[in-house]
Amino acid sequence: MKILGIETSCDETAAAVVEDGARILSNVVVSQIDIFKEYGGVIPEVAARSHLEAMMPVVNKALSDASCNWDDIDAIAVTHAPGLLGSLLIGTLTARTLAILHDKPLYAVHHLKSHVYANWLDSTGENRLSPASGPLKSACPSFSPSARLKPIFPLIALVVSGGHTQILYMAGHNQFEIIGTTNDDAVGECFDKVAKILGLPYPGGPSIAKAALTGDASKYKFPHPKVPELDFSFSGLKTAVLRAVQKEVGVPISYPSHQLKELLNPKQVADFAASFQKTAVDILIEKLKMALEQHPDVKSVVVAGGVSANEVLRKALKEAYFPAPKLSGDNGAMVAAAAYYEVQSGVKSTDPYSLNIYPRVSIEK
Ligand SMILES: Nc1ncnc2c1ncn2[C@@H]1O[C@H](COP(=O)(O)OP(=O)(O)OP(=O)(O)O)[C@@H](O)[C@H]1O
Ligand SMILES: [Mg+2]
Repeated sequence: MKILGIETSCDETAAAVVEDGARILSNVVVSQIDIFKEYGGVIPEVAARSHLEAMMPVVNKALSDASCNWDDIDAIAVTHAPGLLGSLLIGTLTARTLAILHDKPLYAVHHLKSHVYANWLDSTGENRLSPASGPLKSACPSFSPSARLKPIFPLIALVVSGGHTQILYMAGHNQFEIIGTTNDDAVGECFDKVAKILGLPYPGGPSIAKAALTGDASKYKFPHPKVPELDFSFSGLKTAVLRAVQKEVGVPISYPSHQLKELLNPKQVADFAASFQKTAVDILIEKLKMALEQHPDVKSVVVAGGVSANEVLRKALKEAYFPAPKLSGDNGAMVAAAAYYEVQSGVKSTDPYSLNIYPRVSIEK
């Protein structure tokens, strides 16, 4: 089954053709990062307009890269929630129009499901071709860090992205239970905010990771938030970094955070980046271990979302599944994979005349 997946929930215009939820025939992503570098973040109205310009060329390229015409496509899948309202509208209106025009079934997919299903695309599991030992095995007796290409159920998914930080329990395909979530900022958002304090370019995650390469991760100590059970909090970590930087450069806490970068030298930036990154990764692993202790039936762990591209996190969690780094961020292939498993689970297609968007809705709904 060949599915055309369309993704426009934030600032990437993306389309891909995927066969049977795994084999990527094409994957086209046009990122708006260069536009938003100048502003240090996404401007929703500008993002929507950029999607409008890029959308059809991206869809056409996805079809031609896959050597497909419309007769070869069995279904269309599109992100309809959650995300920026204007961005979601461009993707869904395109998908609805194409579904009507070419008489194809249409599937509406939740963005976090797509991030999770990036772990079923081919190339997943390559990091697992040799059995690894690490912090997870000791937390859960049934967890099996043996070499397998695809994750097995029941599993735990750690979703770490720009807008979400959640731990999900999946008893089977297309079954999602939220067992942990952030009370405030997402971890990706925290990377982005700390990068701003340190004067590193948008998006903050890759900039922090790069700066941290030459830094000393043990130079600064940041406390782990005291959040009960499997929930997270990242706003306190961002403030802890801010206070530590202010102390380091000798200014009061009222000093404007956007001016701190002028007082930091490259060594301090590298050490702050490395120390912050280590703390964020340690917090994620601590909660993941706790989740495994509480769910001793779990057999696999998958990590998903933009922050799953982080090398320090990947090295620390060799026992887990990660998408290929280029599939960690937003893309159309993961949308097509998620839709394929919806079809396999008996989910019915959506009416293209009435498909709605939901900028804020839980994966459990
Ligand atoms: N190497 C990295 N290390 C840490 N964070 C990273 C890395 N690469 C990207 N990120 C972070 O990932 C986030 C973007 O991920 P993603 O595209 O999944 O988020 P989003 O789609 O905007 O949000 P959501 O998926 O929650 O709707 C950004 O916060 C970015 O800084
Ligand atoms: Mg995303």
